[in-house]
Amino acid sequence: MKVVISGASGGIGRALVRLAKSRGDTVIGISRSPSEADVHFDCDVLDYNCLSRASGEVGQIDGLAVLHGHGDEKLWVKPVAELDAKDFLDVFLVDVVGAFNVVKAFLPRLAAGSSIVFVSSTPGLIGDSYGIPYATAKGAVVALARSLAKALAPIRVNAVAFGPIQTRWTQWISEEELAAFRDRTLLKRIGSPEEAAEAVYWLLSPASSYVTGHVLVVDGGESL
Ligand SMILES: NC(=O)c1ccc[n+]([C@@H]2O[C@H](COP(=O)([O-])OP(=O)(O)OC[C@H]3O[C@@H](n4cnc5c(N)ncnc54)[C@H](OP(=O)(O)O)[C@@H]3O)[C@@H](O)[C@H]2O)c1
Repeated sequence: MKVVISGASGGIGRALVRLAKSRGDTVIGISRSPSEADVHFDCDVLDYNCLSRASGEVGQIDGLAVLHGHGDEKLWVKPVAELDAKDFLDVFLVDVVGAFNVVKAFLPRLAAGSSIVFVSSTPGLIGDSYGIPYATAKGAVVALARSLAKALAPIRVNAVAFGPIQTRWTQWISEEELAAFRDRTLLKRIGSPEEAAEAVYWLLSPASSYVTGHVLVVDGGESL
C-alpha cells in the first residue's frame, strides 16, 4: 500500500509509520516536526495550501490515517470554570477542521475502495470530567468519520477510539493519576503505541474491506 499519515511524528503516528514500513508499504508522513516516513511533508494541518502541495506530489494513495491531535497539556487540567471559547476553538480547529483539511487535500489521490481512518478517544464517546474541549472535539471526529463514510463511499471511512495509550501525555501526570488510568481499564494497563497502530493499520488495509462507518474501540475495556 501507499499510505499518508498525519501526526506521523507523534507517539501513535511513529508506531504506525514503523509498522507500515515493516510490512513493505510506502509511507508519506505529515507533521510540523520530522518523522521516519519514506517521504515527509512539514505541514501544519491548518495550512491547506501546504497539504495541497503535498498531495500534488504523492500520486495515487491507498490509505489516509488522520492521527494528528492538538494534545495541549494545559487543556487537560483546566477546571470547567476556567475554560473559554478559545480553548474549544483551538482543539476543534486542529482535531476536526485540520482532519477535514487533510481529507480534502488528499481526496483526489484516493481511489474507490481506499480507506480513511480517523482517531477519536473514549472521552469522545462517553465523556469525561476533565479535558472537556478534547472530549468534545473527539466526539465531533466520530460524526465527521460517519458523515464522510456516507458522502465518500465506496471510499471507506472509519475511526478508532483509543483509551489510554502510552505516549507523551503520560509524562504530564503523576504516578497516582497514571495508576487511576490503568485501573479504569479492564486489562489494568495502558496500551502501547504498537497495539494502537495495529488497529489503525487493520482499518487502513484490505483486511477490513467490508468495514465502513465504524468506530473501533481500542481501550482495554475502559469504556465498558
Ligand atoms: N495517546 C493516547 O492515549 C490517545 C488516546 C485517545 C486518542 N488519542 C489520539 O490519537 C492521536 C495520536 O495521539 P498521540 O498520543 O500519538 O499524540 P502525540 O504524540 O501528541 O502526537 C500528536 C501528533 O499530532 C501532530 N500535530 C499536532 N498539531 C498539529 C498541527 N497543527 N499540524 C500538523 N500536525 C500536528 C504532532 O506533530 P507536530 O507537533 O510535529 O506537528 C504529532 O505528530 C491524537 O489525535 C490523539 O488525540 C491518543
